[in-house]
Amino acid sequence: MSTLPTHVTLVDVGPRDGLQNEKEPVATEHKARLVTMLQDAGLKEIEVTSFVSPKWVPQMADNTAVMAVIERRPGVRYSVLTPNMKGLEAALPTHPDEIVVFAAASEAFSQKNINCSIAESIERFAPVVAAAHEAGIKVRGALSCAVGCPYQGEVSADEVERVVQLMKSIGVDHMGIADTIGVGTPRKVQAAMERALKHYPLVEVSGHFHDTYGQALTNIYACLEMGVHTFDASVAGLGGCPYAKGATGNVATEDVVFMLNGLGIATGIDIDRLVDAGAYISGVLGRAPVSRVGRALLAKRAG
Ligand code: HMG
Ligand code: MG
Repeated sequence: MSTLPTHVTLVDVGPRDGLQNEKEPVATEHKARLVTMLQDAGLKEIEVTSFVSPKWVPQMADNTAVMAVIERRPGVRYSVLTPNMKGLEAALPTHPDEIVVFAAASEAFSQKNINCSIAESIERFAPVVAAAHEAGIKVRGALSCAVGCPYQGEVSADEVERVVQLMKSIGVDHMGIADTIGVGTPRKVQAAMERALKHYPLVEVSGHFHDTYGQALTNIYACLEMGVHTFDASVAGLGGCPYAKGATGNVATEDVVFMLNGLGIATGIDIDRLVDAGAYISGVLGRAPVSRVGRALLAKRAG
């Protein structure tokens, strides 16, 4: 039997990936309260917002306001998405601890999501990475459609490795392998991860799995078997990408923590307080949490 990591770091992307796809505006104060509740639950990494075009993603238009009002705690890292220099210039005054540049393994998704080719995206990211480093800020890279694309279909590990290498060549510090539409299955995800691990150390590779086909937890387990110990997740299972039709939310943070607790893997997260955070934001959105664990624990409390 393989040895699994003893500790896992979870990045809650709920305030960003979770909310970006919501049609109705979510008030800045609710976003800030969600960040507070995630911290109360013990999250040490939170993806707060994105500095993208408000025409493309209206829900993130209050990015500067959100960064200004969130309660910042020592030891917690707050990250934001920045697709270009305009985004970085707007983000820097808000003092993110980390920025995220996001590329795709497929040309079609790159065009739909950020309106440029993969090569052009790398050209745009290069000065963003350099300027972030100059400001002492770490750069995480997200690689969308690493196991499947809503436009292209199948995506090969070779295509993944090609873009991983391009991101590495411009100095991106960390590589997040993303299954944007949740079609990945364990061996496929492992093959993509392997390619990232050829160029980045274990500590700088993470998984980002949308749960559209219910495979996300299995895929996380497959990554744990490889020693990967950093994952994105979204409280209440919120989320989706506006440019990946039909893609549902990220794997729910509650579900991941429940599995890791069962495996005896430490996360530093208090599941009850996490369920509170999920119930809170789901209440704001007027629906039940997507998280199965969240719903089960809430039902248990009510009973
Ligand atoms: P573009 O239209 O090609 O950009 O968009 P442009 O440089 O030609 O500028 C056009 C207009 O946008 C101009 O304004 C710019 O000022 C403005 P106008 O003159 O028309 O008034 N603009 C900006 N405004 C604010 N912030 C900026 C910015 N840049 C230009 N940073 C762009 C290119 C990338 C901006 C656009 O395509 C965009 O915003 N796309 C949104 C992408 C996005 O947020 N997708 C969701 C996040 S990624 C994701 O969810 C995947 C992930 O979770 C991993 C996974 O699951 O796969 C990370
Ligand atoms: Mg995503």
